[in-house]
Amino acid sequence: MTSATLLLGLALQSPPPDSGRTLYREWCSSCHGEDARGVGRSSARLEVPATDLAGCAVSSAEPEDLWVAIVRDGGASVGLSMDMPAFGEGATVEQLQAIIRYIKSLCGETGWPPGELNLPRPLLAEKAFPENEVVIETRGRVQELIYERRIGRRLQIEGVARMLADSAGGFHSATAAVKYNAWHSLARRALASVGLEVTPPLKAQRLWEIEPYVAYGANPGGGATVIQGELVAPWEETEGVTGAELRLGIGRQIDRVVPMLEAGWTVPREGQQEFALFPQTWIQLSRLGHVAASIGVEIPLAGTAPRTARLLAFVL
Ligand code: HEC
Repeated sequence: MTSATLLLGLALQSPPPDSGRTLYREWCSSCHGEDARGVGRSSARLEVPATDLAGCAVSSAEPEDLWVAIVRDGGASVGLSMDMPAFGEGATVEQLQAIIRYIKSLCGETGWPPGELNLPRPLLAEKAFPENEVVIETRGRVQELIYERRIGRRLQIEGVARMLADSAGGFHSATAAVKYNAWHSLARRALASVGLEVTPPLKAQRLWEIEPYVAYGANPGGGATVIQGELVAPWEETEGVTGAELRLGIGRQIDRVVPMLEAGWTVPREGQQEFALFPQTWIQLSRLGHVAASIGVEIPLAGTAPRTARLLAFVL
């Protein structure tokens, strides 16, 4: 066979893959709208409105694989409306990927950190990804209610209220924070953010405390391993910078569970260094991963802190 007939044969066997845009128009636009803004010809028949897939905040937040899976298996497969049909029987993975890539291209803006980089929240280190979430956290005797709100592409503001969980009870202290995603790369599966936490003198907190930090997250090769870390330089009203704190953790995703091990190392300007390990397990509770919990312990190995293990846990 000459190479020309071989090429002709190949061309006939594998027609060029349909473009994401054409397939979107044919299969999705009746509900999600020609422009993917969520209003299509059939919208009136839907019990739940079809999602606006074109908005950057929505389309950047979910990883491509998750959206491909929703379109393949249908909305009900992840607890969304049954009105979102399953296309798995009639479509190839390549077609579904082409559609999702087309939808994600509609955002048209750069700078939105992609959902692939939204790694499971560690107990100790600050997460680098900007989030919209409410977290209830227990750290030994102190309970924290954390509210995080995204603003635009890269910014997140945060408020924390702490309460004492024992018989003394009542308000403990409060913190306000901002976080900015300074850098992210989907190709390198990594991101870095800078932030500032401010704790005013209120109730149990006697002096102003300011904590600038850098947070880093990576998921090498998009595989099961996650690495997250944070460097903090705490500053106190009368003392200035009191030292440095390094937090570093590694975890491995096993289906919906991510066991992680974090280490926390505190190097004060004066006094004894502290070192502790934080074995923990993160568990995804909802199928979309928007509800999760984590439980772990603090095991102090060196330092002035009482050498007893502390229980830490959160739900978000
Ligand atoms: C019969 C109407 C209908 C068609 C056709 C349809 N969808 Fe949907 N889709 C919906 C509805 C309704 C929802 C919202 C489900 C919910 O919020 O519970 C949805 C949700 C989704 C979501 C989930 C968004 C999120 O919340 O993360 C994705 C992704 C999606 N659709 C993609 C597609 C794609 C791609 C196609 C074409 C291959 C398509 N849909 C075709 C009705 C439809």
